[in-house]
Amino acid sequence: MRKSIYTLLAVAASTVVMVGCSAGGDNPGVEYAPNMYVSFAYEPMSQLATDDAGSSNGNNTINPYGMNMRLPVKGTIARGQLDYATYNLPKSNESYEAASAWKNPLAATEYNLAEGKRLYNINCTPCHGEDGLGKGTIVADGKYPQVPAYGDRLPTINQGKAFYSITHGKNLMGAYGSALSPKQRWQVVHYIYNLSGVTAN
Ligand code: HEC
Repeated sequence: MRKSIYTLLAVAASTVVMVGCSAGGDNPGVEYAPNMYVSFAYEPMSQLATDDAGSSNGNNTINPYGMNMRLPVKGTIARGQLDYATYNLPKSNESYEAASAWKNPLAATEYNLAEGKRLYNINCTPCHGEDGLGKGTIVADGKYPQVPAYGDRLPTINQGKAFYSITHGKNLMGAYGSALSPKQRWQVVHYIYNLSGVTAN
């Protein structure tokens, strides 16, 4: 008799445990003062319920993709980002031609030239050479075909096209748009004109 009472209690207890678990892992069960855990204010960078988002297909301009961060107001540019918004055309022959109209927005100050030199010596000398004659180490080794001397090439293009080619690359030359910021690219443009004695055009 005694044994069966214990058995009964054990079964009853395990039933309670199992019922407790069957609510599922995501269910917090009964919560005391849930506002203390779940903020009414939006958490940054979180997904909204579709109702709040209005549209979750990316067409909603206030909450694209159902995320709660907002797009910048149309036509505005965040502080410090201006030079990323201008001088930014997709890679194409038309863009190369359109880039002719760009003038270097930086002055050829001592600082900009020094910065241009530093960046040039890091990124460009293996091919173009420290003197800009197109005889860098990998060219001299015979591992790389000809690289034009700036003195020959720069007079045939202009600073806008040079900036464009540094951004997107040209034929065998790789693109530096991701390695150098727009400001750094313009500094390098100043430097290569200065280095090769070509007047800015
Ligand atoms: C891997 C070798 C290599 C490196 C590194 C390289 N270039 Fe070039 N560059 C070339 C070659 C080759 C050309 C000629 C491309 C052509 O006209 O076919 C060229 C052409 C150019 C031109 C002329 C573009 C035009 O529109 O005619 C400029 C300007 C230039 N490079 C600047 C740079 C600068 C600045 C860097 C460093 C940020 C750099 N290059 C790094 C190989 C290189």
